Amino acid sequence: MANLDLFAEQTLGAASADLSRMHALRALLHNYAHQYYVLDAPQVPDAEYDRLFQELQALEAAHPEWLTPDSPTQRVGGKTLEHFSSVRHAVPMLSIRTETDTEGSGAENFDNRVRKEMGLTDSDPPVEYVAELKFDGLAMNLRYEHGVLVQAATRGDGETGEDVTQNIRTIGQIPLRLPDGVPAVLEVRGEVYMRRDDFDALNERQRQRIAAGEKGEKTFVNPRNAAAGAVRQLDPAIAAQRPLSFFAYGLGECTPIEQGGPAFGTHFDLLQTLKNWGFPVAALVDIAQGATGLIAYHDRIGATRDQLPYDIDGVVYKVNSLALQKQMGFVTREPRWAVAHKYPAQEQLTTVLGIDVQVGRTGKLTPVAKLAPVFVGGVTVTNATLHNEDEARRKDVRVGDTVVVRRAGDVIPEVVSVLLQMRPNGPVRLRKRVSSFIRRRGQGFFLSTKNRDAPRFSFRSSKSLLCERAGPLAFTMPHFCPVCGSAAVREASEADYRCTGGLFCSAQRTQALVHFASRQAMDLDGFGDEIIERFVEMGLLKTVVDFYRLTEETLLGFVLREESFRYKSGEVRMKQVTIQSDLAKKLVVSANGTRNRQLARVIFGLGIRQVGIATAKDLARFFGSLECLLEASIDLLLLIENLGQKTAQSIVEFFAEPHNKQVVNDLLKEVSPSPPETTDRVQRLPFLQLLGSMKMKGAGAVALRSVLAKYTTPESLIAAGSSNQLEAGEIASHLYAELCNERWVNVLQQVKKLGITWGSERDGQGDQNSPLVGMTVVITGSLEQFSRDRAKELAEKAGAKTAGSVSRKTHLVVAGPGAGSKLIEAEKLGIKIIGEAEFVQLLHASGVEL
Ligand code: IVH
Repeated sequence: MANLDLFAEQTLGAASADLSRMHALRALLHNYAHQYYVLDAPQVPDAEYDRLFQELQALEAAHPEWLTPDSPTQRVGGKTLEHFSSVRHAVPMLSIRTETDTEGSGAENFDNRVRKEMGLTDSDPPVEYVAELKFDGLAMNLRYEHGVLVQAATRGDGETGEDVTQNIRTIGQIPLRLPDGVPAVLEVRGEVYMRRDDFDALNERQRQRIAAGEKGEKTFVNPRNAAAGAVRQLDPAIAAQRPLSFFAYGLGECTPIEQGGPAFGTHFDLLQTLKNWGFPVAALVDIAQGATGLIAYHDRIGATRDQLPYDIDGVVYKVNSLALQKQMGFVTREPRWAVAHKYPAQEQLTTVLGIDVQVGRTGKLTPVAKLAPVFVGGVTVTNATLHNEDEARRKDVRVGDTVVVRRAGDVIPEVVSVLLQMRPNGPVRLRKRVSSFIRRRGQGFFLSTKNRDAPRFSFRSSKSLLCERAGPLAFTMPHFCPVCGSAAVREASEADYRCTGGLFCSAQRTQALVHFASRQAMDLDGFGDEIIERFVEMGLLKTVVDFYRLTEETLLGFVLREESFRYKSGEVRMKQVTIQSDLAKKLVVSANGTRNRQLARVIFGLGIRQVGIATAKDLARFFGSLECLLEASIDLLLLIENLGQKTAQSIVEFFAEPHNKQVVNDLLKEVSPSPPETTDRVQRLPFLQLLGSMKMKGAGAVALRSVLAKYTTPESLIAAGSSNQLEAGEIASHLYAELCNERWVNVLQQVKKLGITWGSERDGQGDQNSPLVGMTVVITGSLEQFSRDRAKELAEKAGAKTAGSVSRKTHLVVAGPGAGSKLIEAEKLGIKIIGEAEFVQLLHASGVEL
């Protein structure tokens, strides 16, 4: 008996220990998940979280009777549903009135309405508002009872929505359990959305699945669609793989004050409380005073909208005082106290009128969709680049198609997708004798009409005139240059077709001159595209040197174009528009005024492939003169930081071309570029760069650094080598031997001639002012302030190299929430790991503007 009691006591004791451990684990995991998903500040490594998670899973498996729906293990676990059941909202989910006037006056309209509603006059103080982002996702009602998430429902028609609890549970940012003391009934409303980087990664995965032949997979048009698809996914396991996020912005049903519910004075208080309860609330929420405050917010967000890691389609203004909100009430389903203030839409539908192929200055052929004019992103768009053949094929844009056009910020307009269901096709009946129209072309018969983009016809019967319209043809790149007729070729490793006509091709010639005259290059005032085109046509401009050989005499009376002119009598005649003396003078003065442009602009203006303005600046600083650049070898060029093999090769090839050399030499007779103000930073080359470009076996970053620790300049290594101080077989002695090769001796001589000195302070070993220079950085997980791509770009701006995977060569890992295997690898290799905040500090220290 006594033994049995003891046994019972022991098992009970063990069980209660399990139970309290389960409680402790759940609390810990809730806490860690909140730090990770909501605060973006994980306190423990993923591995620790996983360990605790598995411990909890094991305990729950041993005691299924203690499993609760708010357990962190229960985020994924539901069965595939047949359909979603409907949910009647306890408090209807309202919509907001939309202010379509996207200017500041849109905010004024709202403020005026509010003031009128409240009977305020001009002498009354401004109304206080809360300004928020209008997230582009889908509205969600999260119902908590006694602090536990019991239901998540979509908005539906506002009265009744769908129960999507299973899927919403999988969103890490949504708390399954709230802290003690929250109202017994609490409905939190907000937006479920997908971050842009998560969307890109998802689509990339989808593309891979499609490529692997998986059935039923598709890519998503935009983050909103992808989010909506995930929320309405019947299989919660699939939903769990779609990375969703959440922002809270309001309340639904809530225990009333009389029954112990919370008393909020303002909407802003409410948001703060939601944040304290563990909900993600956007950091960009602000209090605004009157219309002026609203406009300032609208402008501020509008200016940075494209840099947000998620899509918004406007901002929302809400009267801050909840008492005033109540007083103002609703009209139909829209509250009078709130409004959505839009931005000009960044996406619009339009039709493709044609697909042109343009020839760029380097001969690159670019397919460009000619569009029916459409107002998008604040401007009227008539052209959208299709980039290259592969892109055009991937998007499968055809003449006559209805397409989604996007223009975000200053980015060039783009065709996002084609609405296939709106592609024109279907049978048509031909009235004329068809045979006379038929021309044989390649694979089939084509109807030849004046419209070269006519749909394709195929015959059902040779006698019948009934034809089947197969819709517009898929786009194919021409294999010849549309301007000069030379062959257009695409190298195996390249995405682009190029015209092989070189400067024989007037399009390339014209574009080269247009580039030279452009603002970032020589900024030749008055030489617009049209004038240059005409001058090329008439042989007035052949090379860039000719800009400086124009004289007033040759220009005077030069025919620019012909225009029709109507006389008073009503007679219409063609009239020649010629260059008058004021324009002639202006052009000559303008060209003369640019003879001392900065060297970097001249280099950029030459239009060397791969050399953008940033590289041109580096080249100018490094070489100090065009003459020196002309002589540069690939080895020497590779010493310039951030200048890769491809660019170096392109520069050397450019100057190896006799024609180009001639043009540059002639140009130097006309212009004397002003040299850059040399800075100490650039005039000192990192020795590491030289050692690295030797690409010696066994000389990885670690080995090189150990050599650098002793020898900071080539001279010191050579001195050590030539006085037999290096041990044979040591890496330093190999490097010394290599340095003695003619190839490197030449490079060292050239560096000396350029007056550049060697040093090791830019080797990434902690220069105070540029801490990221020379470092190889891996960015993993998601960041709050920017997408991973943007973060990489910034790191590169700060002088770092970025890599996609962690290896021994990695110096630094920037980890945000969601980081997984890369973080573990970094921990294993003992590589320094920092969070977003520290990364931002490093960027600031490097002088990189965010
Ligand atoms: S408040 C009574 N705030 O916009 C006001 N809505 O028609 C109820 N939305 O689909 C909504 N961001 O999901 C509010 N900061 C925000 C919002 C927001 C996006 C969506 C909402 C709904 C639509 C309102």
